[in-house]
Amino acid sequence: MHPIEMVDLKRQHLAIRKELNAAYEEVMDTAGFINGPSVNKFATELGQYLGAHVVPCANGTDALQICLMSLNLKPGAKVLVPAFTYVATAEVAALLGYELVFADVDPDDFNLSAQEVAKAFEQHPDIQVVVPVHLFGQMAPMEPILELAKAQGAYVVEDMAQAIGAHYSHNGIQGMAGTLGHISATSFFPSKNLGCMGDGGAMISSDKQRAALAKTIANHGQGKQYVHEEVGVNSRLDGLQAAFLSVKLKQLDKYIARRQEAAGFYDESLGQIDGLITPVRRPYSTHVYHQYTLKWERGNRDELLKHLAEKGIPAKVYYPIPLYKQKAYQASTFAPKALPVSEALVGKVFSLPMHTELDQEQLHYICDTLIGWCKRH
Ligand SMILES: Cc1ncc(COP(=O)(O)O)c(C=O)c1O
Repeated sequence: MHPIEMVDLKRQHLAIRKELNAAYEEVMDTAGFINGPSVNKFATELGQYLGAHVVPCANGTDALQICLMSLNLKPGAKVLVPAFTYVATAEVAALLGYELVFADVDPDDFNLSAQEVAKAFEQHPDIQVVVPVHLFGQMAPMEPILELAKAQGAYVVEDMAQAIGAHYSHNGIQGMAGTLGHISATSFFPSKNLGCMGDGGAMISSDKQRAALAKTIANHGQGKQYVHEEVGVNSRLDGLQAAFLSVKLKQLDKYIARRQEAAGFYDESLGQIDGLITPVRRPYSTHVYHQYTLKWERGNRDELLKHLAEKGIPAKVYYPIPLYKQKAYQASTFAPKALPVSEALVGKVFSLPMHTELDQEQLHYICDTLIGWCKRH
């Protein structure tokens, strides 16, 4: 059996090695390392795939920051983020001098729920931005979130770093992850569903003007060279990464299908084990399984992880501490006393290996090992 990895990029890249090498050579030949033709080409291709405007940048964290900068908010503006997510979502708001409002998440799908967003607006009617994170690859309930934000005159910035290729459809609102809010941020970190060979990210918007502003901000705030209309940043996707991403974008739907197949196998095998809760699938969103995240409800999750590790099965906890409990965010003005769902989830969740190269032998071994342990405990 091949060793089991959390993400197996070596084997993924082996299958497209020729094309990746050709992409590398083309960039070498043209020396288009910064803002070369490969960057525009990839932005156009991803734009066509998503049905929106795409502005590449250096990484997903920058993308979130530039999205927020493009909204022209005043210092102290309130930004609503889920407490159970990757730190980048909150970090950029704090960095820009905005005030974070942390909301709890849905215990079943781990995303911001309409109920929690409504509750946050009741307590803070002056929230100016809501940032739903489509966590683990399934979209947050965008239709009610957009409604609630609209009623309050707030912006919606999607963090779609884990959900590229997911599709939403509910009550007449439909589209790909990243195309429904005012502006969205994604990451091409290597382990992402569409990952490059280093760092990369992008802003996405259905609104041409917003995308143009994001592009200006990402380029030192200059529309024309040496004419600075905004205070910007320097955040560029490099030419090599863009060329690799064009190669991998062609594979994205196949990659998603493979992740969904592996998730289907996990669902079938693990769905009936007492105390083990497999991921919920929502009818309004496809799930692209950036992570396959379960809950262990009958005891010590960390013992389970230790056993898997001893058996050569990597498994990880995304995320072990709610953001408002992190030292860096404890002083945030609106850090709540307790958000019970997030606090319970951090002790229960764990993610199994999930990638495009998982084979039947590995899947059987992972499930048999996990089921054996659960039955003994
Ligand atoms: C939900 C989420 N947001 C933002 C980011 C930040 O992306 P990056 O690591 O490219 O800065 C990540 C990825 O690590 C993420 O998972």
